[in-house]
Amino acid sequence: MNNTLYIVGVGPGDPDLLTFKAHNALNDCTVIATPKGSRKGTSTALSIIQQAVKLEGKTILELHFPMKKVRMGEKPDKEVEKGWQDAADTVLANLDAGNDVAFPTLGDPAIYSTGYYLHQTIIEIRPDVRVVFIPGISALSSCSAATSIPICLGDDRLAVIPATFSSDKLRETLLSFDTIVLMKVHKVINELKELLADLDLLDNAVLVEKTGMKEEKIYSDLSKLTEPVHYFSTIIVRKHLL
Ligand SMILES: C[S@@+](CC[C@H](N)C(=O)[O-])C[C@H]1O[C@@H](n2cnc3c(N)ncnc32)[C@H](O)[C@@H]1O
Repeated sequence: MNNTLYIVGVGPGDPDLLTFKAHNALNDCTVIATPKGSRKGTSTALSIIQQAVKLEGKTILELHFPMKKVRMGEKPDKEVEKGWQDAADTVLANLDAGNDVAFPTLGDPAIYSTGYYLHQTIIEIRPDVRVVFIPGISALSSCSAATSIPICLGDDRLAVIPATFSSDKLRETLLSFDTIVLMKVHKVINELKELLADLDLLDNAVLVEKTGMKEEKIYSDLSKLTEPVHYFSTIIVRKHLL
């Protein structure tokens, strides 16, 4: 290893879902830079790896990434941009001091992960920095396993979409695809239930809360769901039975 940043997918919560490659990278890096959505809160990625990797003697840096909407093709909010910039500067300072740095991120870095914002900001400052991505088990794979519902088979077409943006886009996506994975559903759960009912898809939907964690819950009948759900909740809408 030599002054490398490892962006490591750590799975959805169960430390047994860390890959060997993720485990090895986290073990070998002297610095762990973990993302946090709020300054006072804790890092979920850190709490997952703490259960599997010995962190004594390592430098733990908590990096704040404000939880605000980012729209592709548009400039991010100033606070968000500053969060990325500060995080990139901190990571670069640690790489320059001769360390390998691991950035653990929930699930898989390929899916709505701050890891790519960090990567982009770093290579804009220093294009020669070595960055290695280590894939992880995404929440959507874990939700599929928990419910025994496949994500896509045969000629199925799959869409993965955050539920918090435009409701027109959601409606169109729900109509057009065979399987639709809805992420970031917690703040809009009532609107989603109405939309699914309107499209006659309520019976095809299942919500999994905190998959891979001790508190995992499966809601197969969303019409009966009355309590608020956690941010770690995903809905799979599958139109075909098999
Ligand atoms: C910022 S995205 C991160 C996705 C992550 N990179 C992945 O591959 O799963 C956050 C969303 O992922 C989903 N999610 C993350 N962890 C989850 C879990 N343990 N159970 C259910 N959904 C989860 C939720 O929809 C949540 O709002």
